[in-house]
Amino acid sequence: MDDSNRPPAGWSDRREAERRATETGAVPGANRRSGRDRRDEEAWAAVPLELTLADEGNSEASLVAAATDARSRAHARYSGFKVGAALETAEGLVITGCNIENATYGLTLCAERVALVKALSEGRTRFARIAVVADTEAPTPPCGPCRQLLWEYCGDIEVILANLERTTATLRLSALLPLPFDGRLLE
Ligand code: THU
Repeated sequence: MDDSNRPPAGWSDRREAERRATETGAVPGANRRSGRDRRDEEAWAAVPLELTLADEGNSEASLVAAATDARSRAHARYSGFKVGAALETAEGLVITGCNIENATYGLTLCAERVALVKALSEGRTRFARIAVVADTEAPTPPCGPCRQLLWEYCGDIEVILANLERTTATLRLSALLPLPFDGRLLE
């Protein structure tokens, strides 16, 4: 066997130790740092989804307030540009999102898509409105990929754009994404 095929040093010892641990009922890899079950640590504590059911429907102001609140939780250390979103379901639930950046830049998650995937993964499938809040004088509309996903999963919802002081624009998603490509073309 040439060197390139040789297992890393310590490999067979570790495998043997794990085999023995399995036989004795111990959890394989439990002593290795990366194998530790971290779910009892504080950082793992469940983060509640902000699902609130409106008594008499949400006002535009309360939807914008929910998006503004979510914006305060943005992870935007690379761009410094914080965005919050609040997606309202047809039943009046409000599900929020904020942008989440990381060191690769390209894996950034936009606030709108965070709200959307949270809602979909919680079984919500019918939507009425989305509010998007950024600290800009001009309206900050959803980016292209967000428009596509919002269109496919929400349809022609109302889009409320606001800054920290006021609503800057209210429009329908179809105005932001005319002539969309969607599943109907694949039928
Ligand atoms: N961003 C959003 O979260 N939503 C938008 O509608 C526009 C852009 C984020 C992505 C990135 O974290 C930062 O804003 C700058 O582009």
